[in-house]
Amino acid sequence: MLKTSVAKKITMALSGLFLVVFILVHLGINLTLLLPGKETFEKAVHFMATNPFIRIMEPILFIAFIYHIIMGIYLELTNRSKRSVGYAKYDGSAVASWASRNMIWTGLFVLLFLIFHFYNYYIPFKTGHVESHYDLVTGLFDKWYYTLFYVLAFIALGIHLSHGFQSAFQSLGVPREKCLRFLKISGNIIALVVGLGFSIIAIYFYFN
Ligand code: HEM
Repeated sequence: MLKTSVAKKITMALSGLFLVVFILVHLGINLTLLLPGKETFEKAVHFMATNPFIRIMEPILFIAFIYHIIMGIYLELTNRSKRSVGYAKYDGSAVASWASRNMIWTGLFVLLFLIFHFYNYYIPFKTGHVESHYDLVTGLFDKWYYTLFYVLAFIALGIHLSHGFQSAFQSLGVPREKCLRFLKISGNIIALVVGLGFSIIAIYFYFN
């Protein structure tokens, strides 16, 4: 029982860290939207659509997302019913941080965002004839409610990562005493870069 619970935490951590890598790459590509002209973003989209390595990674990415979501919900439910050992609430303080106590809610909000996100971008990108990817992506932020919803989701994602990043390494057995401070700082930096980076794109195109 203990063994399988540990295995679940480890795979949860590995899938989470894989998703962090994807999110950083995704952010890097999306930031090209802020460069002058539309060409750089169009080139990046073309590269992503045609590069064989990216094509292979796409199904793996989807599996990682689905696994992470299902296992996150499962671990939350088993923790609640106290049938399992508690999941990675490793905070040093007696009272765990707000982010660590609300991983399920920030996670579910990001899931809601992903459903809209697929409807907004992924499906039109894959199925429709898109004349300008740049116009399609930036056009969404003409609407205040989408800009607001996206920015709230990016804040939720930042909060999720601020705890998730350090928690993942601790689930993988990185020693607390030596590394906790470093992991907390790097997790917070990643959370800030991701939350702010994506938000800047949405807000920029809302006002321009
Ligand atoms: C301003 C913020 C964002 C913009 C403009 C944006 C834009 C896009 C676009 C245009 C696509 C379609 C790409 C393609 O099929 O080639 C896409 C796909 C996707 N996005 Fe985002 N995205 C943003 C934020 C996010 C965030 C925060 C997440 C994760 C929580 C995310 C997760 C995904 C996933 C999983 C896909 C499908 C995988 C792929 O084919 O790349 N996106 N996004």
